[in-house]
Amino acid sequence: MAVDLLLGLQWGDEGKGKIVDVLTQNYDIIARFQGGPNAGHTLVFDGNKYVLHTIPSGIFHKTALNVVGNGVVIDPVIFKKELENLDNHNIDYAKKLLISRKAHLILPTHRLLDAASETSKGKAKIGSTLKGIGPTYMDKTGRNGMRVGDLELDNWKEKYQALTEKHIKMLNFFDVDIQYDLDELEQEFCEGIEKLKTLQFIDSEAFINNAIKEGKKILAEGAQGSLLDIDFGTYPFVTSSNTTAAGACTGLGVAPNRIKEVFGIFKAYTTRVGSGPFPTELFDEVGETMGRIGHEFGATTGRPRRCGWLDLVALKYAVEVNGVTQLMMMKGDVLSGFDTLKVCTAYKYKGEEITHLPYNIEPENVEPIYSEFKGWEADLTGMTDKESMPENLVNYIDFIEKETGVPIKIVSVGPDRKQTIVR
Ligand code: GDP
Ligand code: IMO
Ligand code: MG
Repeated sequence: MAVDLLLGLQWGDEGKGKIVDVLTQNYDIIARFQGGPNAGHTLVFDGNKYVLHTIPSGIFHKTALNVVGNGVVIDPVIFKKELENLDNHNIDYAKKLLISRKAHLILPTHRLLDAASETSKGKAKIGSTLKGIGPTYMDKTGRNGMRVGDLELDNWKEKYQALTEKHIKMLNFFDVDIQYDLDELEQEFCEGIEKLKTLQFIDSEAFINNAIKEGKKILAEGAQGSLLDIDFGTYPFVTSSNTTAAGACTGLGVAPNRIKEVFGIFKAYTTRVGSGPFPTELFDEVGETMGRIGHEFGATTGRPRRCGWLDLVALKYAVEVNGVTQLMMMKGDVLSGFDTLKVCTAYKYKGEEITHLPYNIEPENVEPIYSEFKGWEADLTGMTDKESMPENLVNYIDFIEKETGVPIKIVSVGPDRKQTIVR
């Protein structure tokens, strides 16, 4: 009777998609619990690469069911494209993909409001993915949103119309020029809705709790990362949902005492896409090299990701907030060839050395204090067992385990499913 969670511990893009795909063989159900198509989860196997935005990363396995939970926000237009991509690869999802009636819908005007809000902020913009995430969650908490279950009612178009008209008025409040063709956007939206309606809508909280009672194994797949959490992230430069463990309870209707393992996934260094503070960010050749070797470009927007050293202060914070029981270290292969590696173990904050994440982590407030490690030369990408790992990598891993107090159970050494070392 258990649900395990898989969560990103940094600013997203840790490699959640890859690891969910690797772990799916152990589960009956994979369930996304928050976020929307701001996410881009990459899977690589059999020479193919797939990027999923809303669909859970268990979809490529034969038997596992995939649930889009109530905490997720769905853009029918993007969802249709994701499904068509699966169609093109002959992936049969019809009976394996179930959608919560309580999931909220992203309307075309939510995307326009996102763009207007960002433009009006100028330099202070969040760096949103412009997928309408913030405005959709605002309508959810403002009790105005449209949900998947509404599509089963005869009057869903009236609801849609009323909300869209309200959004158009709101758009006029922003003193910015956003160009759009509403007819075109609506046509696309309706086509998306038709495709969405070919799937099975479910009362997902009942479905999941029944599955728990039947002894089924469930893995909840997080999106974004802990430092983008609406409460615990680097606010306001965050996303609009709870990306941390508690989000799985509200985003699926799973009680806290049903949760067993919490898999926390992190890169061996750090990346961030979009605006906001990033204490260990590198602006030099070293950061540029990480980005180049790690192909650090956003899977959703294509924007270059900012790169920097591993920040243990932030990692320990994420481990604590989520109750992480097992760690997974990703992209260790990207660090091969660096003479020296640095890990931030404390911050200098108002003249003092601190080891917790303070309220303000802007560069004017915190300066990272680093421990240095000897790098390794060996190419890790062909390694499949822990015995072949170079000594300096083992030292690096041991240090992180000691500092966090949590074992690192998986070391990922490449994007492919097979490039995964289990410890
Ligand atoms: P997610 O959003 O957490 O699922 O992560 P993304 O898919 O946005 O970004 C992770 C990127 O790193 C993708 O391009 C993956 O294919 C790639 N990746 C995952 N694990 C590894 C790894 O261990 N090594 C390398 N080199 N790439 C990896
Ligand atoms: P995955 O699941 C990395 C970032 C955006 C921006 C901020 C707010 O692939 O790890 P939003 O569109 O949510 O309003 O943007 O959050 N962001 C992500 N960064 N990975 C993601 O998802 C992200 N989803 C949102 O870049 O800074
Ligand atoms: Mg991603």
